[in-house]
Amino acid sequence: MTDRKATLSVGNESIELPIYSGTVGPDVIDVRGLVQNGVFTYDPGFVSTAACESAITYIDGDEGVLLHRGYPIEQLAEHSDYLEVCYLLLKGELPTAEQNKLFHDTIKNHTMLHDQMRNFFHGFRRDAHPMAIMCGVVGALSAFYHDQMDVTNEHQRDITAHRLIAKMPTIAAWCYKYSIGQPFVYPRNDLSYSENFLQMMFGVPCETYKPNPILAKAMDKIFILHADHEQNASTSTVRLAGSSGANPYACIASGIAALWGPAHGGANEAVLDMLAEIGDVSNIDAFIARAKDKDDPFRLMGFGHRVYKNFDPRAKVMAETAHEVLSELGLENDPLLKIAQRLEQIALEDEYFVKRKLYPNVDFYSGIILKAIGIPTSMFTVIFAMARTIGWFSHWNEMVSGDYRIGRPRQLYTGSPARDYPKK
Ligand code: SDX
Repeated sequence: MTDRKATLSVGNESIELPIYSGTVGPDVIDVRGLVQNGVFTYDPGFVSTAACESAITYIDGDEGVLLHRGYPIEQLAEHSDYLEVCYLLLKGELPTAEQNKLFHDTIKNHTMLHDQMRNFFHGFRRDAHPMAIMCGVVGALSAFYHDQMDVTNEHQRDITAHRLIAKMPTIAAWCYKYSIGQPFVYPRNDLSYSENFLQMMFGVPCETYKPNPILAKAMDKIFILHADHEQNASTSTVRLAGSSGANPYACIASGIAALWGPAHGGANEAVLDMLAEIGDVSNIDAFIARAKDKDDPFRLMGFGHRVYKNFDPRAKVMAETAHEVLSELGLENDPLLKIAQRLEQIALEDEYFVKRKLYPNVDFYSGIILKAIGIPTSMFTVIFAMARTIGWFSHWNEMVSGDYRIGRPRQLYTGSPARDYPKK
């Protein structure tokens, strides 16, 4: 551990608190002993709080660095594939060729859903938001595997990982099929993970679906870029839910719920809605003015980040992928792409954004790619949730396979002092 200490003066008391260093990144001050002194730390939104120790992902917000088990996201996006990244996040090391083949085959053999799961979809209105359906169906998985879930059993945790990684694309695609009234398309074992997702999304029983390799590669890259991101809101939700010993499928469903918000994973859908609302590059200045107006709740969706105060490295890869996909589809002059590029250029030169270090984040370009592939905006966060499932599970797994306590934050109470109930 450490013999380094921070000294805190509270009233006329001097409190010594241990300081710990990680492999890289900021040191942490262990404040667990503070409660003995009758005080709490206060950090709404957890801006300066490390809630756990983790070895999975490291972010340097000032340098725009994102490492998964030490490997830079740019290199993984360029050279790896999503299932290999899943193995890396889960196990901590890249798989050997043999381990990789076995992992790919294992996932292929878990892609089907229990046929009764179809009934959960039919309980929703056709116009239900796909995120609502995904949240409900993933939570329902806990009813199918509840009696086999001993969180202390590594083998059962591994099976749960395989089921979640394998079944999320099927659930995601069926959310879409249900919303457009088309029959569910079953997974095919002759296709890669991302090809299979596209065929379940766009295939129909009347003909054999032929995946476009460029689009499948772009989809796989999008999955990699969304796989994990340290202790973001949805991952912290999964950890907190898991800290009570809850069923892991239910914990993943809590992560889906947290991701849905427009400040988090819902931003990719909000970006496309914003670009459509802007409508033309001539309207950009008015929207930039609104984003800067404190009295206007409008924010530039896809801009800003709690941690990145430099470019989000994922946004750069996403921008390159957007160009690849749009030129493959002959959409280089896509009007939304033009608005996005001009908006980015203006914002990055504007003092308000420069001073606050607001750069495009992972959500700024992803929606343009997904829309070009033919995916409706209502499905964007569903795809984010599908890709992030491995991150959520890896953090849950890291926590439950080690020493952990139930998460139970305290508060600054500003309500009424004790008072008596008025006598009638
Ligand atoms: C994701 O945490 C993660 O890692 C998340 C994620 C992941 O992979 O899990 O990276 C995925 O959620 C990316 C973020 C997607 N959200 C959006 O694009 C929504 C738009 N962005 C903002 O809502 C905001 O930037 C947040 C939510 C992302 C970050 O909010 P913070 O850290 O609480 O920052 P803040 O709201 O305190 O903003 C600081 C200042 C404020 O101005 P001042 O009060 O200092 O004058 O910057 C302003 C804000 O008003 N600001 C913006 C802005 N984002 C921040 N102003 C206009 N447009 C914006 N987008």
